[in-house]
Amino acid sequence: MTLTLLRARVLDFHADPAETDDNHRYFPDGAILIDDGRIVAVGDYASIRRKGAVEIDHRPHLILPGFVDPHIHFPQVQVIASWGAQLLDWLQNYTFPEEARFADDDHAEAMAGRFCDLLLMHGTTTACAFASSHPGSVDALFTAAQSRGMAMLAGKVMMDRGAIPEVHDTAQSSYDDSNALIARWHGRGRLNYVITPRFAITSTPEQLEAAGALARENPHLHIQTHLSENLAEIDHTLSLYPKARDYLDIYDHYGLLGPRSLMGHAIHLSAREVALMAETGTRAIHCPTSNLFLGSGLFDDAGLRAAGVVTGVATDVGGGTSYSLLQTLNEAYKIAQMRGVNLHPLAAFHWATRGNAIALGMADRIGTLVPGSDADLVVLNARATPAMALRAERIETLAQELFLLQILGDDRAVAQTYVAGKPMRPAA
Ligand code: GUN
Ligand code: ZN
Repeated sequence: MTLTLLRARVLDFHADPAETDDNHRYFPDGAILIDDGRIVAVGDYASIRRKGAVEIDHRPHLILPGFVDPHIHFPQVQVIASWGAQLLDWLQNYTFPEEARFADDDHAEAMAGRFCDLLLMHGTTTACAFASSHPGSVDALFTAAQSRGMAMLAGKVMMDRGAIPEVHDTAQSSYDDSNALIARWHGRGRLNYVITPRFAITSTPEQLEAAGALARENPHLHIQTHLSENLAEIDHTLSLYPKARDYLDIYDHYGLLGPRSLMGHAIHLSAREVALMAETGTRAIHCPTSNLFLGSGLFDDAGLRAAGVVTGVATDVGGGTSYSLLQTLNEAYKIAQMRGVNLHPLAAFHWATRGNAIALGMADRIGTLVPGSDADLVVLNARATPAMALRAERIETLAQELFLLQILGDDRAVAQTYVAGKPMRPAA
């Protein structure tokens, strides 16, 4: 048994700063004791230190729970930064042709390793990812995550129309392939299979029926899809499902709502849809860099929360423009500004850690430093670049430091990432 002791300034959250003042604990000379990949104790260094523990000193940096990214597309690692289109054209012109390349298992394998390493370089220790429609892409992603010890949630996208033949499956094959992947991967180590109908435009009613059957037969599984991201998307969706009252009604009709259902984007919603999300516990996942990049719209986090909807915040690479949850929080701050809301840095960092873990229903294992949690951690350096170091000279409070990280930080501010107690980056 090897005990590891990380020494640094230590921060985590036990409540949402948007809801209560008693929300975090901060140890200026803190430590985290780790045994066999789990957190054993957290507190002041003087009280936590143990004889025989291997000590790693990260002072003066700040340790938090690793970032959680609840919406990202693994086969879009070479789509990110594609010019000049809004959602539907962006999908047709760039995304579907690129995802077609994941029919090749060798390509999928090569990209999966790069994808996981990019997440870790950016301090993200858990992601909920869309793979391509090819089952081999899920095998590649889970294999790469497993070899790194990461908690990964992922599923093959179900899409039987509306794209290009190379990425189309059928209602039956998507059901069969998803079932085989569930049997092969779900619950293996830290891996979770996610039922993944891409969105209503690329699924026939028969396929959404199949997704609903998978959900009924596997009630413990997450479901991920997209909802009301773009106005042209909404029009097209409602023309394909003319009997639906609104976009969310389609997913409701096929039994796809609930606290394990993650709706990417959820921007242009009616009051009825917001109320139904709250009533069913369905999650709304904000994707700020993507929403600005694709010109989709301004997510109403305050309105959704006030209505009782649980929200997460995600990168949505490759519609999103950064793997960094810090940069994602930067853009979330600006979108909130456009809506007349100030996103406080404590609330922002809560959102990217415990908040996203709650959105995924996984806060008992990730997102905090509570003993028993997996030792998934990010070590942040608020002086990582010359501009950050200069600004940091005038910083006096923890909140100011967090805001500096949120606005100016990216992967350069990640000094180290730990997955189940193991360092994943070369020592800085
Ligand atoms: N809607 C359906 N598929 C996608 C996708 O890959 N990215 C985004 N941003 N929206 C989508
Ligand atoms: Zn997406």
